[in-house]
Amino acid sequence: MKPRTVAIDGSAASGKSTLASALAGRLKYLYLDTGVMYRAVTWAALKQNVDINDEAAVSELAEKIDLQILPSEVDDGRQATILVNGRDVTWLIRGPEVNVNVSQVSSYPRVRQVLTRQQRKIAQQGPVVMAGRDIGTVVLPNADLKLFIVASAEVRARRRHLECIERGETLNFDELLASIIRRDKLDREKPISPMIPAQDAVIINTDGLSQQAVLERVLALMENS
Ligand code: DC
Repeated sequence: MKPRTVAIDGSAASGKSTLASALAGRLKYLYLDTGVMYRAVTWAALKQNVDINDEAAVSELAEKIDLQILPSEVDDGRQATILVNGRDVTWLIRGPEVNVNVSQVSSYPRVRQVLTRQQRKIAQQGPVVMAGRDIGTVVLPNADLKLFIVASAEVRARRRHLECIERGETLNFDELLASIIRRDKLDREKPISPMIPAQDAVIINTDGLSQQAVLERVLALMENS
Protein backbone atom coordinates (compact mmCIF):
# COMPACT_ATOMS: atom_id res chain seq x y z
CA MET A 1 0.00 0.00 0.00
CA LYS A 2 1.25 3.50 -0.83
CA PRO A 3 2.39 5.42 2.30
CA ARG A 4 0.18 8.46 3.03
CA THR A 5 2.76 10.30 5.07
CA VAL A 6 6.45 10.27 4.16
CA ALA A 7 8.97 11.79 6.56
CA ILE A 8 12.35 12.68 5.06
CA ASP A 9 15.08 13.87 7.40
CA GLY A 10 18.73 14.59 6.84
CA SER A 11 21.44 17.21 6.89
CA ALA A 12 21.84 20.35 4.78
CA ALA A 13 22.39 19.63 1.06
CA SER A 14 22.07 15.87 1.62
CA GLY A 15 19.61 15.81 -1.26
CA LYS A 16 16.56 15.40 0.97
CA SER A 17 14.65 18.43 -0.38
CA THR A 18 15.23 17.44 -4.00
CA LEU A 19 14.13 13.90 -3.24
CA ALA A 20 11.12 15.05 -1.22
CA SER A 21 9.96 17.40 -3.96
CA ALA A 22 10.41 14.79 -6.72
CA LEU A 23 8.69 12.12 -4.65
CA ALA A 24 5.76 14.40 -3.82
CA GLY A 25 5.44 15.23 -7.54
CA ARG A 26 5.44 11.55 -8.43
CA LEU A 27 2.91 10.59 -5.76
CA LYS A 28 0.85 13.78 -6.30
CA TYR A 29 1.21 14.59 -2.61
CA LEU A 30 1.73 17.92 -0.94
CA TYR A 31 5.40 18.74 -0.35
CA LEU A 32 6.54 20.66 2.71
CA ASP A 33 10.16 21.61 3.35
CA THR A 34 10.06 22.54 7.04
CA GLY A 35 13.53 24.15 6.92
CA VAL A 36 11.99 27.16 5.17
CA MET A 37 9.85 27.80 8.26
CA TYR A 38 12.90 28.06 10.56
CA ARG A 39 14.59 30.20 7.93
CA ALA A 40 11.56 32.51 7.65
CA VAL A 41 11.47 33.11 11.42
CA THR A 42 15.23 33.81 11.37
CA TRP A 43 14.87 36.23 8.46
CA ALA A 44 12.02 38.05 10.22
CA ALA A 45 14.06 38.38 13.43
CA LEU A 46 17.06 39.78 11.55
CA LYS A 47 14.83 42.11 9.54
CA GLN A 48 13.17 43.47 12.67
CA ASN A 49 16.51 43.82 14.48
CA VAL A 50 15.49 41.32 17.12
CA ASP A 51 18.61 40.05 18.92
CA ILE A 52 19.03 36.42 17.79
CA ASN A 53 20.38 35.54 21.25
CA ASP A 54 17.24 36.88 22.91
CA GLU A 55 15.29 33.62 23.09
CA ALA A 56 12.10 35.17 24.47
CA ALA A 57 11.97 37.88 21.81
CA VAL A 58 12.65 35.48 18.92
CA SER A 59 10.04 33.04 20.28
CA GLU A 60 7.46 35.81 20.59
CA LEU A 61 8.14 36.83 17.02
CA ALA A 62 7.69 33.21 15.84
CA GLU A 63 4.33 33.12 17.59
CA LYS A 64 3.06 36.26 15.93
CA ILE A 65 4.39 36.34 12.37
CA ASP A 66 2.10 35.37 9.52
CA LEU A 67 3.96 32.61 7.69
CA GLN A 68 2.52 31.19 4.48
CA ILE A 69 3.87 28.49 2.20
CA LEU A 70 2.19 28.53 -1.18
CA PRO A 71 2.59 26.43 -4.32
CA SER A 72 5.13 28.01 -6.65
CA GLU A 73 3.68 30.14 -9.44
CA VAL A 74 6.99 31.75 -10.40
CA ASP A 75 9.37 29.98 -12.76
CA ASP A 76 12.69 30.86 -11.11
CA GLY A 77 13.70 27.50 -9.68
CA ARG A 78 11.69 27.83 -6.47
CA GLN A 79 9.82 24.82 -5.08
CA ALA A 80 7.31 26.96 -3.16
CA THR A 81 6.64 30.61 -2.42
CA ILE A 82 7.33 31.67 1.16
CA LEU A 83 5.52 34.73 2.49
CA VAL A 84 6.29 36.45 5.79
CA ASN A 85 3.63 38.98 6.70
CA GLY A 86 2.67 39.04 3.01
CA ARG A 87 6.20 39.67 1.69
CA ASP A 88 7.81 37.16 -0.69
CA VAL A 89 10.99 36.03 1.09
CA THR A 90 11.58 32.83 -0.92
CA TRP A 91 15.15 33.77 -1.91
CA LEU A 92 15.91 36.14 0.97
CA ILE A 93 15.75 33.26 3.45
CA ARG A 94 18.61 31.54 1.58
CA GLY A 95 21.06 34.38 2.28
CA PRO A 96 24.30 33.98 4.28
CA GLU A 97 23.01 35.91 7.30
CA VAL A 98 20.09 33.50 7.68
CA ASN A 99 22.44 30.53 7.14
CA VAL A 100 24.63 31.68 10.01
CA ASN A 101 21.78 32.28 12.47
CA VAL A 102 19.13 29.67 11.68
CA SER A 103 20.57 26.88 13.84
CA GLN A 104 20.40 29.11 16.88
CA VAL A 105 16.79 30.06 16.17
CA SER A 106 15.84 26.42 15.58
CA SER A 107 17.25 25.47 18.99
CA TYR A 108 14.57 27.49 20.82
CA PRO A 109 11.81 25.21 22.22
CA ARG A 110 8.99 27.73 21.77
CA VAL A 111 9.95 28.35 18.15
CA ARG A 112 9.94 24.59 17.55
CA GLN A 113 6.61 24.23 19.30
CA VAL A 114 4.91 26.84 17.11
CA LEU A 115 6.34 25.46 13.87
CA THR A 116 5.75 21.81 14.81
CA ARG A 117 2.09 22.64 15.45
CA GLN A 118 1.79 24.25 12.01
CA GLN A 119 3.55 21.29 10.37
CA ARG A 120 1.20 18.77 11.97
CA LYS A 121 -1.79 20.83 10.89
CA ILE A 122 -0.56 20.78 7.30
CA ALA A 123 -0.09 16.97 7.48
CA GLN A 124 -3.69 16.58 8.63
CA GLN A 125 -4.93 18.15 5.40
CA GLY A 126 -3.93 15.19 3.23
CA PRO A 127 -1.11 12.96 2.01
CA VAL A 128 2.23 14.69 2.42
CA VAL A 129 5.95 14.36 1.91
CA MET A 130 7.55 16.39 4.68
CA ALA A 131 11.27 17.13 4.84
CA GLY A 132 13.32 18.39 7.78
CA ARG A 133 15.48 17.22 10.67
CA ASP A 134 12.96 15.87 13.19
CA ILE A 135 9.98 14.84 11.07
CA GLY A 136 10.28 11.10 11.67
CA THR A 137 11.23 11.50 15.33
CA VAL A 138 9.05 14.38 16.59
CA VAL A 139 6.67 15.98 14.08
CA LEU A 140 5.18 12.84 12.52
CA PRO A 141 6.36 9.89 14.61
CA ASN A 142 3.63 7.75 13.05
CA ALA A 143 4.63 8.51 9.45
CA ASP A 144 4.07 5.54 7.15
CA LEU A 145 7.55 5.79 5.64
CA LYS A 146 10.61 7.40 7.20
CA LEU A 147 13.78 8.13 5.29
CA PHE A 148 17.03 9.56 6.64
CA ILE A 149 19.28 10.97 3.93
CA VAL A 150 23.02 11.31 4.40
CA ALA A 151 25.99 12.42 2.26
CA SER A 152 29.56 13.43 3.07
CA ALA A 153 30.22 17.08 3.95
CA GLU A 154 32.46 17.55 0.87
CA VAL A 155 29.81 16.26 -1.52
CA ARG A 156 27.18 18.46 0.10
CA ALA A 157 29.40 21.56 -0.03
CA ARG A 158 30.09 20.89 -3.72
CA ARG A 159 26.33 20.66 -4.40
CA ARG A 160 25.57 23.92 -2.58
CA HIS A 161 28.52 25.63 -4.30
CA LEU A 162 27.17 24.62 -7.69
CA GLU A 163 23.69 25.89 -6.79
CA CYS A 164 25.19 29.27 -5.78
CA ILE A 165 27.13 29.53 -9.05
CA GLU A 166 23.96 28.72 -11.01
CA ARG A 167 22.19 31.56 -9.20
CA GLY A 168 25.06 33.91 -10.11
CA GLU A 169 26.32 34.18 -6.54
CA THR A 170 29.98 33.93 -5.55
CA LEU A 171 30.74 31.96 -2.42
CA ASN A 172 34.06 30.64 -1.24
CA PHE A 173 34.02 26.81 -1.28
CA ASP A 174 36.07 26.40 1.90
CA GLU A 175 33.83 28.79 3.80
CA LEU A 176 30.76 26.91 2.56
CA LEU A 177 32.25 23.59 3.67
CA ALA A 178 33.13 25.00 7.10
CA SER A 179 29.62 26.40 7.53
CA ILE A 180 28.04 23.04 6.60
CA ILE A 181 30.23 21.19 9.12
CA ARG A 182 29.44 23.78 11.79
CA ARG A 183 25.70 23.58 11.12
CA ASP A 184 25.72 19.74 11.17
CA LYS A 185 27.33 19.79 14.58
CA LEU A 186 24.77 22.26 15.92
CA ASP A 187 21.85 20.31 14.41
CA ARG A 188 23.13 17.00 15.77
CA GLU A 189 23.93 18.26 19.23
CA LYS A 190 20.97 20.48 19.93
CA PRO A 191 19.32 19.37 23.17
CA ILE A 192 15.79 19.28 21.75
CA SER A 193 14.88 17.59 18.48
CA PRO A 194 18.46 16.76 17.49
CA MET A 195 19.01 15.53 13.96
CA ILE A 196 19.02 11.75 14.43
CA PRO A 197 17.37 9.01 12.43
CA ALA A 198 14.15 7.53 13.83
CA GLN A 199 14.61 3.92 14.88
CA ASP A 200 12.43 2.76 12.00
CA ALA A 201 13.95 5.09 9.36
CA VAL A 202 15.61 3.77 6.22
CA ILE A 203 19.04 5.39 5.83
CA ILE A 204 20.06 6.37 2.31
CA ASN A 205 23.54 7.64 1.42
CA THR A 206 23.40 9.85 -1.69
CA ASP A 207 27.18 10.18 -2.26
CA GLY A 208 27.83 9.39 -5.89
CA LEU A 209 24.12 8.95 -6.69
CA SER A 210 22.24 11.16 -9.14
CA GLN A 211 18.93 12.73 -8.05
CA GLN A 212 17.14 10.30 -10.36
CA ALA A 213 18.95 7.31 -8.88
CA VAL A 214 17.95 8.34 -5.35
CA LEU A 215 14.31 8.74 -6.41
CA GLU A 216 14.32 5.34 -8.09
CA ARG A 217 15.79 3.71 -5.02
CA VAL A 218 12.99 5.12 -2.86
CA LEU A 219 10.27 4.16 -5.35
CA ALA A 220 11.68 0.61 -5.40
CA LEU A 221 11.68 0.60 -1.62
CA MET A 222 8.00 1.55 -1.62
CA GLU A 223 7.14 -1.16 -4.12
CA ASN A 224 8.83 -3.80 -2.03
CA SER A 225 7.48 -2.79 1.35
O1 DC B 1 17.08 22.26 5.66
P1 DC B 1 17.52 23.71 5.87
O2 DC B 1 19.01 23.88 5.70
O3 DC B 1 16.77 24.70 5.05
O4 DC B 1 17.19 24.01 7.42
C1 DC B 1 17.46 25.24 8.00
C2 DC B 1 17.73 25.08 9.48
O5 DC B 1 16.55 24.73 10.18
C3 DC B 1 18.79 24.05 9.87
O6 DC B 1 19.75 24.66 10.72
C4 DC B 1 18.06 23.00 10.65
C5 DC B 1 16.77 23.64 11.04
N1 DC B 1 15.64 22.73 10.95
C6 DC B 1 15.20 22.12 12.09
O7 DC B 1 15.79 22.33 13.17
N2 DC B 1 14.12 21.29 12.05
C7 DC B 1 13.50 21.03 10.89
N3 DC B 1 12.44 20.22 10.89
C8 DC B 1 13.95 21.64 9.70
C9 DC B 1 15.04 22.47 9.76
